[in-house]
Amino acid sequence: MKKFWVYIIMAGTVFLVFSCNHQKQKKSSAQAEHKPVVIVPDTTIYITLNDSVRQTLLERGRKIAVTTQLRLRQELMKAIKQGGTENAVTFCNKRAIEITDSISLAEKVYIKRLAKKYRNPLNDMTKNESNIFKAYIINHLGKQRIQALITWNKIGQPVYYNPMIVKSFCLKCHGTPGKDIKPGVAEKIAELYPGDKATNFKAGDLRGMWSVTFPEYRVTKVK
Ligand code: HEC
Repeated sequence: MKKFWVYIIMAGTVFLVFSCNHQKQKKSSAQAEHKPVVIVPDTTIYITLNDSVRQTLLERGRKIAVTTQLRLRQELMKAIKQGGTENAVTFCNKRAIEITDSISLAEKVYIKRLAKKYRNPLNDMTKNESNIFKAYIINHLGKQRIQALITWNKIGQPVYYNPMIVKSFCLKCHGTPGKDIKPGVAEKIAELYPGDKATNFKAGDLRGMWSVTFPEYRVTKVK
């Protein structure tokens, strides 16, 4: 009878250990704790998407993307200085989406850094976005100019997209493991992003695209 209880306790311990591990895994997934920002615009403005409106939105989208990029880069450099590339991976994990979200709230738009080969599944593209991205890839491979564009989403909100190119600086975390990505950094990435797809890029490759959605507008006509 004593033995029986020993087995029960052992089984219970094993169960607890496994369930804790499971919890830990869930927590380390970058997706688990993210609450999407919600922006409620004061009014809805119905627009005709003509050349001048398009130009205005392109300019606004560009400014917002540039501001966000600068901010991310600044913080990333700070994290590298403080604790090396490994520390910067942890920083990106904790803060990248938080930073884009905080600028989204301040600007009353939705900012995303999208990728088909993503590291964080929260940055995956919708089907529509994948099609836009495919067109960018084809043009890029054909050495044609790729540039920002304005389109609209399912509910008519205008969206700015701008392709993002890989620079040599990015390879530390998105290049070839073992060559560009140091073993310690690769380990950290594997720990935080078990399903990582964002490696093996080369400088000049298309990495993904920015998207900026303007929730206060509805496109009702296109000219
Ligand atoms: C210190 C390592 C590091 C460097 C350097 C780095 N990244 Fe990343 N990158 C990450 C991490 C970690 C994530 C996932 C962030 C998250 O969880 O939101 C990420 C995510 C992204 C994403 C969002 C899509 C996805 O895969 O989840 C894009 C786009 C991106 N990086 C582009 C770049 C570009 C372009 C550069 C160079 C200018 C660069 N990165 C440099 C670590 C890095």
